[in-house]
This record gives sequence, C-alpha cells and structure tokens, in this order.
Amino acid sequence: MTDETPAPADTHVLTETNTAEAAAALPAPPYIQRWRSFLEEAGALARHADPLVASGRLARINGLVMEAAGLKLPLGCTCKVFPVAGPPVEAEVVGFQGEKLFLMPSDDLFGLSPGARVERLMATVAPPRVGQKTVRGRRSADRAKQAPVGISLLGRVLDGVGRPLDGKEPLRPEAQRSLQSRPYNPMTRAPIDKALDVGVRAINGMLTVGRGQRMGLFAGSGVGKSMLLGMMARYTTAEIIIVGLIGERGREVKEFIDQILGEEGLRRAIVVAAPADTGPLMRLQGAAYATTLAEYFRDQGKDVLLIMDSLTRYAMAQREIALSVGEPPATRGYPPSVFARLPQLVERAGNGPVGGGSITAFYTVLAEGDDQQDPVADAARAILDGHIVLSRSLGDAGHYPAIDIEQSISRAMVNLVTPEHLNVIRRFKSLFSRYQRARDLLAVGAYTPGSDQVLDEAVRRYPEMERYLQQNFDVSAGLEESVRDLSGLFSAAQQAE
Ligand SMILES: Nc1ncnc2c1ncn2[C@@H]1O[C@H](COP(=O)(O)OP(=O)(O)OP(=O)(O)O)[C@@H](O)[C@H]1O
Ligand SMILES: [Mg+2]
Repeated sequence: MTDETPAPADTHVLTETNTAEAAAALPAPPYIQRWRSFLEEAGALARHADPLVASGRLARINGLVMEAAGLKLPLGCTCKVFPVAGPPVEAEVVGFQGEKLFLMPSDDLFGLSPGARVERLMATVAPPRVGQKTVRGRRSADRAKQAPVGISLLGRVLDGVGRPLDGKEPLRPEAQRSLQSRPYNPMTRAPIDKALDVGVRAINGMLTVGRGQRMGLFAGSGVGKSMLLGMMARYTTAEIIIVGLIGERGREVKEFIDQILGEEGLRRAIVVAAPADTGPLMRLQGAAYATTLAEYFRDQGKDVLLIMDSLTRYAMAQREIALSVGEPPATRGYPPSVFARLPQLVERAGNGPVGGGSITAFYTVLAEGDDQQDPVADAARAILDGHIVLSRSLGDAGHYPAIDIEQSISRAMVNLVTPEHLNVIRRFKSLFSRYQRARDLLAVGAYTPGSDQVLDEAVRRYPEMERYLQQNFDVSAGLEESVRDLSGLFSAAQQAE
C-alpha cells in the first residue's frame, strides 16, 4: 500500500504505562499522528472500494445510446463494450432507468452486436501514503475518465481524450488527470486584479482583460472569431495556451493550426480537437480535457490562456446526449441539464489560490445577427465575466478585428486599470457612439458642422479612433503600448486644438 517503510524509531513500544487514558492525556507524537491518519485514509478507501469486476450485456442500441443490463455502475463511470472482433468501444454511463444503464460511446458503434459484453473500466486510484494528507480518488468524479497531462504535451495536437492527432512521436505524459475536477472553493480563489496582455489593441486598451477572467466572444459565423483567437494565442504574454476546438468543422482544425496559430504559436500551446464529426461524448470530453490541461498548468503556478471554440457546440453536444437519454427539451429544444453543465465547465477556469497561477479563458458563442433570444448566448452572458461582440457589418466593411466596442464589456476592468484610463475609455466611447448615432445624417449631408460641438469633435476624431481599433493579423500590440496609444489619442488631439 505504501512505499514508506517505518523507521526503527517509529516502532511504538507498548508498556504497562501506555494505557488508553495516558495516551489520551498526552498529545500523540507526530509519527503516531501520521500513521493514524494513514490508517484512516486506507480504511476510508477500503470502505469505498469497488466491487469485483463484473460484466453486463448490451441489451439495446437506440440511436447513439446503448442500454446495458446486469451491471450496477455509477453515473460518469467509464465502460468498455466488446464487439465480436476488433477493439472494444469505450462508453460512459450517462443515465439509468430501473435496472438498465444508458451508455454513450466515445467512438462509433460499428461491430457491436446484441448481448455484447460490457465491463467497467477501472480507474486507478493512488494508494494513500504515510504522512500525506488527502487521497484523491474518493469522489466518483475523481474516478471519471483520465487523460494525459504534462509539459511535454506542448506543441501537440490531441483528440478529446488525449490521443495524438498530429502523427508525431507517442506522448510521454508526466501524469494522468481526471477529466472532471473538484469544484473550487470560491473563498480561496485569488481576485482578478492583474491585467493580462492579449496582444490585441482594442481589447488591451478598451476592454482590458484580467488574469483569471472568463470572457465570451459572441459572433455569427465567418466574422473573424478564429482569427481573433489566433491573434491572442500568438501575441499574449500568458505562458501556456490551451486551445479547445470543439464541434467545429474538421477542415477548420488544420487551418487554425497551420495558418492562424502557426509553428511559433503552437510551440507553447496544446490543441485539443474534437470536431463536429466526433460523437457528442467526445466533444464534451474534449472541452473537459482542455480545461483539465489548463488546470494542471495553473496548479503549477503558470498563467494559462484557455481558448474554447465553441461553447455553443459544447452545449449542443450536451443537448444531443440529454435528448437521447430521454430528458425533455425545455428552452428552444435545450434540456435543462445543458444550462447546468455550462457553468460547471466555465467555473473550472479562473484563478487559483492567492499567489498561484491563473486560467484566463475565452469561449466563443455563436450569436447570429440580432438574435438575443438564443438560450446558450443568454446563459453564457450570465455566467461569464464579460463579452466581446463581433459585428458582421464591421467585418463586411473590412474593419478587423470586427469588435463592436459599444456592445462589448469587460466586467472586471474597473479593478484592473487606473481611473485616468477609465476616463479616456469613457470619452472614447461617448464620442464613438455619438458619431455612430449621427452616421445616417452625416452620410446624406443633413448635418451642418458647428451646430453640435460634441458631434463636431466626434466627426474630427472618428478616423483616428477607428484606426486605433483596427489591427492587422500579423501585428501584435502590447498592453502598455495599447494604453499609451489610447491616452495619446486624446492628449495629442487636445494639444492640436
Ligand atoms: N484580423 C483580420 N484581418 C483580415 N481579415 C480577417 C481578420 N479576421 C478575419 N478576417 C477575415 O474573415 C474571414 C473569416 O474569419 P474567421 O475564419 O476567423 O471567422 P470565424 O468567425 O471563425 O468563422 P466560422 O464561424 O466559420 O468559424 C477570414 O477568412 C478573413 O478573410
Ligand atoms: Mg472559426
């Protein structure tokens, strides 16, 4: 059970004076305490031990869901289903009814036949050790599917459960971690009080993002989400970048890695790809795995940038699973469990304890046009610490990144920047929106300069402000530089007056 053998000094000699009362009166020496807590841990582990490996039978396959009989397994447990020939199919327990278990496969179901053997996949639990406080693995979530983590994974492209997709050498992971983590005690999290340089001027200057902040990137299709995320991944000062490509087209995965991230960007990144053609469970696992990787590096004190494209596809994967096990749809076809899953995923990102690492996360959310009713977008807005909205009309006009500054907000910003900086932003926004409101008037020449001073100033400064917000894909803009340029925009203009 343990690799620590007791030193001779640890041998406790029983003497007549060593009665129960005497032992209770004196504080136990440290080695006794160590052994006592070890025995407690070992006892607890034995109480929760798994029953002997049992097997069940496949009774039915209904669409994607398999029904197994003859096994009693907890939710979230991983199983193997054996086809007549070929490798077993991995599946997760996603529900049950009476004696039937509902299993969702990670891969496809080819080759399975009625009565196929179903076996539990035993998760290894680290044995307790003398002198070590907590033993992981007591909660069922700790026994969820495990996947590889480690610094040697940098530069690699992996699937939703950590198998390499890039055809390079086999992985040499430092450790295996459960895809589900324990919820973080909100009281021990460090506050968001330091800005993170994301290398994009409009964000650094106008929507400063803090270390440990979770942002949404709301946009329709083809408005430039991937390009913007790629810019952040390439230019940010975060030490590690984890990219989760969940449910997007397969072609996009290669494009993102080759053209957007590039060799340079990939060197300090790990890409987890679970594209649209993988099963819904694999897509959920992909998102969980990307988060697990980010958590691993955060727990080592690193600043991690987690990029998840997209949260909407994650919600859709959960919807597929929930509907196929019979959960009734509620909001626009989404069953309630979807809205429970979203915060569970998002809450895993964020800061660690004070002085530790951080996970700053960007989740893309599909929000087409003026559709404010999309339930996933609604839910995401509520659980994230800010949102960046990309506008199709800006993109169409060649304004990239197409960030709609008026509709975007970073909720943690007030704690991150100076009052002067906030003032400049307020000024920028008020002039910018004044111009936008008068745009139609100006276009038809219905406005006579001189009749509204604020609008005059807005008209004069608009080209500079617009230029400030634009940034070419191959140019990086640091945090200090972005803030300096922003204040320079107004002080220079003031001097010119
Ligand atoms: N910073 C930029 N500079 C120049 N062009 C850009 C920029 N960002 C986006 N584009 C243009 O917009 C197109 C779509 O961008 P991108 O693929 O990033 O969009 P997307 O929102 O990820 O699309 P999808 O919804 O298909 O995933 C690009 O092919 C490019 O032409
Ligand atoms: Mg994209």
